[in-house]
Amino acid sequence: MTKPIIELTDICKTYGQGAEQIRILKNVSMTVAQGDFVAIVGPSGSGKSTLMNTIGLLDSPTSGMYTLDGTATEKLSDSQMAGVRNKKIGFIFQQFNLLPRLTALENVELPLIYAGFGKAERRERARRMLESLGMGERTGHKPSQLSGGQQQRVAIARALAGSPSLLLADEPTGALDSRTGTEVLELMIELNERGNTIVLITHDLHIADNAKRVVSIRDGEIVDDKRNRPLGNGAEAYSDADFRTEARQVGQA
Ligand SMILES: Nc1ncnc2c1ncn2[C@@H]1O[C@H](COP(=O)(O)OP(=O)(O)OP(=O)(O)O)[C@@H](O)[C@H]1O
Ligand SMILES: [Mg+2]
Repeated sequence: MTKPIIELTDICKTYGQGAEQIRILKNVSMTVAQGDFVAIVGPSGSGKSTLMNTIGLLDSPTSGMYTLDGTATEKLSDSQMAGVRNKKIGFIFQQFNLLPRLTALENVELPLIYAGFGKAERRERARRMLESLGMGERTGHKPSQLSGGQQQRVAIARALAGSPSLLLADEPTGALDSRTGTEVLELMIELNERGNTIVLITHDLHIADNAKRVVSIRDGEIVDDKRNRPLGNGAEAYSDADFRTEARQVGQA
């Protein structure tokens, strides 16, 4: 069995105190294997972004265990957490989140500065990444000089530039028209075929159908988990049903 890249065990997230308390995530347990392509679906307010922010180490759970690529995250300090995040995770957001004053190339370079790459290597990596996403001609453009789909390509290049082991996307096609959305989807499929592990949130059933696995969330709980396509790396043997059984046994022990 390949080691899972994500292992969430009994993750709870609550806001507020006492009678005012609201439970946003309720004992969420799931694993994601290396090389998987997981779509998270569910109604608005069901906790999808909260779960994604937990997976992305942007937010800490109230309780539960989260092991990312073999690292038990609950033991990390804030700065260690930021270090792991910069090294292992690439983010793509619905609104692209590019810096308007920087060129496409500079936007892609930015996380590489935090990751500690030297100037020449940074430039080279950023340029190569933009080229591989069909943006080689537009490296000097500012975001306002690019279409929505092109901006999302820059954002994807930025997410991938540091070779993260995990790519997280919160409604990456939400702000795009359907044709551009399809292009971004095809890009994600290609990235996954090249070995990137992807977890994305989507409201688009067409995108969910193209993921390898679909996890449905409702009221802070996983209510369905189905596989559309095999993982393709021989890792199927260990299923999430096995993991949940184990997590329950650990909980009872
Ligand atoms: N800081 C906070 N304080 C209190 N409640 C919060 C906070 N952040 C999120 N929530 C609540 O948590 C619930 C889940 O929010 P979340 O953003 O995870 O939903 P979502 O599934 O991503 O929805 P959408 O599809 O609309 O993006 C919502 O009811 C939201 O109001
Ligand atoms: Mg959301």
